[in-house]
Amino acid sequence: MSTNQLDTKSTAWSALFSEPTDVMVNRYTSSISFDKRLWKADIAGSLAHAEMLCAQDILSSQDLASIERGLAEIGAEIEAGTFDWKIELEDVHLNIESRLTQLVGDAGKRLHTGRSRNDQVATDLRLWLRDEIDTLSRLLGALQVALVDIAEAHAATVLPGLTHLQVAQPVSFGHHMLAYVEMFSRDAQRLTEVRHRTNRLPLGAAALAGTSYPLDRDRVARKLGMEDVCQNSLDAVSDRDFAIEFTAAASLCMVHVSRLAEELVLWMNQNFGFIELADRYCTGSSIMPQKKNPDVPELARGKTGRVVGHLMGLLMLMKSQPLAYNKDNQEDKEPLFDTVDTLRDTLRVFCELVSAIRVKPDAMERAARRGYATATDLADYLVKKGLPFRDAHEVVAKAVKFAMQRDVDLSELPLASLQSFSAAVGEDVYQVLTLAGSLNARNGLGGTAPAQVLTQVQRHRVRLDSMQSLTAP
Ligand code: ARG
Repeated sequence: MSTNQLDTKSTAWSALFSEPTDVMVNRYTSSISFDKRLWKADIAGSLAHAEMLCAQDILSSQDLASIERGLAEIGAEIEAGTFDWKIELEDVHLNIESRLTQLVGDAGKRLHTGRSRNDQVATDLRLWLRDEIDTLSRLLGALQVALVDIAEAHAATVLPGLTHLQVAQPVSFGHHMLAYVEMFSRDAQRLTEVRHRTNRLPLGAAALAGTSYPLDRDRVARKLGMEDVCQNSLDAVSDRDFAIEFTAAASLCMVHVSRLAEELVLWMNQNFGFIELADRYCTGSSIMPQKKNPDVPELARGKTGRVVGHLMGLLMLMKSQPLAYNKDNQEDKEPLFDTVDTLRDTLRVFCELVSAIRVKPDAMERAARRGYATATDLADYLVKKGLPFRDAHEVVAKAVKFAMQRDVDLSELPLASLQSFSAAVGEDVYQVLTLAGSLNARNGLGGTAPAQVLTQVQRHRVRLDSMQSLTAP
């Protein structure tokens, strides 16, 4: 192979080929347009590999020094935007290796000893994803903090709690926010678990069968901050389950975001009027001057479909692939990259948007009252006075019907009216008919009483503080 054989595929791949690759095939098989974003991981992997080759006496220390110098220069060129990416060189690996050989000569050609692009790309992708997971985990932490802040401020703010989207029972708005904190904390846990399985080293698997050079794979893994080495070479180069389970975790997180997004859209609707989003997160209409649209949550809802689509794409990419590496796997990158980008941007914008929500407690309270949200409390009151629950349920249904016909709340019915439905009703009934009374009554673990909400706020703060100190740079 001549020194600049890798420079261009207008020459044939190797002596075996009698003609160059077709130009259209070059374009079809090239991944450089998207995989160049793996360059940092590619250089880190090459440095660790070269250092180990030298420690194992497979590479001279002069060659190692040349490789280190060349890769540093390449890194600087890429950062500066002066690196000349070539489509004929197919991917990030061949582009960097070719430039290295140009810069440092034969030492560059020795770097690929005991290595294949198959274990190289799997390593790059794992390294890259590991670092992206760390960014996403930090953002998930920040979003939880923003929600906990609202929960603390609104522990005693009454929201009509819904089932079937119909008013059910009053809940604390803070309690409602903390439900999302629970969801996002599980999403963060899932990402941490995926990180462990992602952070393993394929290098050393070579093309598929391992290599005859005496490599020290543990040393490379340590150098790259990886927790373990992949234990089967065929599996190491071919499976992409780490990308799939990451995308599954990301999909679930987006599904959680979409639930919150949907509620924000509803709450902003004039018929609810529970919140206002800051103007900077809304857009207007080109025709209707009165409009302020919640585009950001709507888009987040839409982008959830896009991420879940990537999950389906990756699952189908892997399905039925025979061992070991197949070129199909080059198609793993775009969905994975887009999943990371979409989730990262969504979490970023939601951290800001959530912190800027303006809550309108009066509107929430009015809606809770209009929906007879304390009807269950009246039934529970009657049970405590000795009625069987089913009878109490029926008594209250009649009282609600009566109040509806007069367009008043249960708490606005005179004592004599309430007593006409059950003699068990006494003066003290009005304590349970208030929204605050209803909330305070649900003071068991996990309940909506403001006291419970504040206890949970403290628990989350301790948890999030320790998480932040773990992930601080
Ligand atoms: N660009 C390729 C990919 O993303 C790198 C591995 C190619 N290996 C090969 N033998 N063609 O999967």
